[in-house]
Amino acid sequence: MKVHWLDSDRAPAGVEDLRQVGVLHEVLPATPDDYQPQLDVLKRERGYVEQDIVELRPDTVGLESICAKFADEHLHTDDEVRYVLEGEGVFDIRSTDDAWIRVTVERGDLLVVPANLHHRFFLTERKHIRCVRLFKDSSGWVPHYRQPSDRAKERANQRV
Ligand SMILES: [Fe+2]
Repeated sequence: MKVHWLDSDRAPAGVEDLRQVGVLHEVLPATPDDYQPQLDVLKRERGYVEQDIVELRPDTVGLESICAKFADEHLHTDDEVRYVLEGEGVFDIRSTDDAWIRVTVERGDLLVVPANLHHRFFLTERKHIRCVRLFKDSSGWVPHYRQPSDRAKERANQRV
């Protein structure tokens, strides 16, 4: 995993900045026999009941429109849990002061973006990622896009 502020004028970002917004990161072993018991612990501890594997590749039908759904800032009412089996991806995650923390994940990275935290996702130039996903309830994993008016309201609330 690589972490940095998208705004290059800021000091280096790190795991502590992710922890402050409730993001969990761990590195798990690569083979299913080794990573599954650790995912099972996470499922028990956090109440995830569903597990699947998703793969995006350069030849995935509709790749552009699939990626476009997650490129705009959004949140989910369920955690977004991704354990990377192959390839890589980029999450931009909102910090406590509404800046972007850019997180590049690769094989072995487990990332949990908590429910209700704004973020967005991109593939890298390789256009390939294969991940295990965990859900509490797959119906909760729908993107809710952030509107400019929401941001203005949130900023006003932060000032109060
Ligand atoms: Fe998302």
